[in-house]
Amino acid sequence: MRGVSTLTQFGQKHVTKGLGRLTEAVVTKGEGSYVQLDDGRRMLDFTTGIGVTSLGHCHPKVSKAAADQCMNLVHGQCSIAFHEPYLRLIEKLLPIMPDPSLDSFFFWNSGSEAVEGAIKMARWYTGRQNIITMQGGYHGRTFGAMAVTRSKTIYSEGCHPLMPGVFPVAYPYWHQHGLPPNTSEDELSERSLYQLDLLLSQQVNPKDVAAILIEPVIGEGGYVPAPKSYLEGLRTVCDKHGILLIIDEVQSGFLRTGKYFAIEYSGVRPDIMIVAKGIANGFPLSGIISRKEITDKLSPGSMGGTYAGNAVACAAGVAVADAMKEDKIQENVAARSKELFDSLAELRKDAEIGSKILDVRGRGLMVAVEFASPTGTPHDPLVDPSAPQNLAKRVAKRCLEKNLFILTTSVYEVIRFIPPLNISKEDLAKGCKIFAEAVKEVVREG
Ligand SMILES: Cc1ncc(COP(=O)(O)O)c(C=O)c1O
Repeated sequence: MRGVSTLTQFGQKHVTKGLGRLTEAVVTKGEGSYVQLDDGRRMLDFTTGIGVTSLGHCHPKVSKAAADQCMNLVHGQCSIAFHEPYLRLIEKLLPIMPDPSLDSFFFWNSGSEAVEGAIKMARWYTGRQNIITMQGGYHGRTFGAMAVTRSKTIYSEGCHPLMPGVFPVAYPYWHQHGLPPNTSEDELSERSLYQLDLLLSQQVNPKDVAAILIEPVIGEGGYVPAPKSYLEGLRTVCDKHGILLIIDEVQSGFLRTGKYFAIEYSGVRPDIMIVAKGIANGFPLSGIISRKEITDKLSPGSMGGTYAGNAVACAAGVAVADAMKEDKIQENVAARSKELFDSLAELRKDAEIGSKILDVRGRGLMVAVEFASPTGTPHDPLVDPSAPQNLAKRVAKRCLEKNLFILTTSVYEVIRFIPPLNISKEDLAKGCKIFAEAVKEVVREG
C-alpha cells in the first residue's frame, strides 16, 4: 500500500465529498494513452477522462492550436461579436453532420448545459412542455439535465421534486425488460416501442410532448447501442405527432463508435443533436445543433452564456477535426475495435470465466462487458446466485492495481472500455491483457 501524498491529504480535506474518484492519487501529467500519478505510477488510460481525450492526452496539434489561440484571443464573448474559431469550427463540423438539415449551431461549455438548452429550444419551438426520456438515460447533473437522467438515483437523491413534465420509457436493453442477453434486437425494439405506445395513450398525450430525448448508445445506463429499428420507430412517432427527436451524442460522438456520430448507424435524422466531450479533446466545449428553421424561431438573447463557445476551446475543436482526418482516426478505431472484441471473445471462451460474462456489446471503441451478478433489484429475473459479488467494481479496482484506469457503468455489473481512439495496437493489447488477468483473478477469488 503506497503512502498518501500531502497534496492528496489536502484534496481530501478541501475538495467536496460530493465527488467520487477512481483513485486518491494526484495526476501530474497526461501524454497520449497514459497519465502520470504523483505516487510514481504511469497508468494506461482506458477512461479518456470519461470519453473526452479521444485523441489521447495533450495531443500536440490540439495543444498547440489552443496555445496559439491563447496568445491571440482567449475570450471572444459570443453575445458581443462573432469570433473566428467559433465560425471555423462550424465550417469543420458542417460536412460531418449526420444529416444536411443540421446547419445551425450554438456552442456551450458542458454537456449538461447543452441538454438544458436543447430542452428549452424544444419547448419554445413546439409550445409544448413535456419531454420523454429513456429509462437508464444519462444527460447530466444540472437541474433540467438531472430531471431527464434516469440511470442511477444518486444523481437526484435528496433533490426532489425534479423539473416536472418528464416521462421515462423503457430502453431497448434486455435487462430493462427482464429478458436474457441473447434477445434479438427486433424483439427489444418492438417491446420498447410498445411501452412508448402505452406511455402515449395512458400517461401523456402526444400533442403535449415537445421532444423525445435519447442517447444512440446509452452510456451511464450500460453502454447499449439502440437498435436501428427502434430509432426508426421513434422517428416515425415524432413525425406523426410533431414531436422533436433530440439525439444526445455527448459520449458517443466524434468517432467514438467508429462513425462520426452513432446515430449514423440508423440513418435517422435528429431534429436537435447535442455534442460535447470528444469535440475538443479536453477543452470545455459542447454544442446544440439543429436546423435553421427551428433556431430561427428563437428570440435573440434567449440563448447565451458568459463562456459559451470559448475561443480557445473552439480553436482546439478545429484542431481536433483536422487531426481526426490527418491521423486517420476512423481507420484506427475500426482496427482496434476488432482487436478489442476478439480479445473479449477469447476471454469468454475460458471455461472458468465464460459463464460469468453475460454480454459483450458496443460499437467502435465504446464497448462494454456485463458480468453476472448474485444480487439485483428484488424482482430481477437475471440474478445468478452462483456469481461472485460486485464483479465489475472489483475488476476495475484490480486493473487499477495493475496500472490500468478503467471504469464501471450503470446499476448492473458493467465495465466500459473507452480508450483513446488513436491508441496503438500494442497499448490496446496491453490493456486487454491486464483486464483479462484481473477478471480471472477476481472470479477465482469468488
Ligand atoms: C450522454 C451524456 N449526456 C450528457 C452528459 C453531461 O455532460 P457534462 O458532464 O459535460 O455536463 C454526459 C456526461 O457524461 C453524457 O454522457
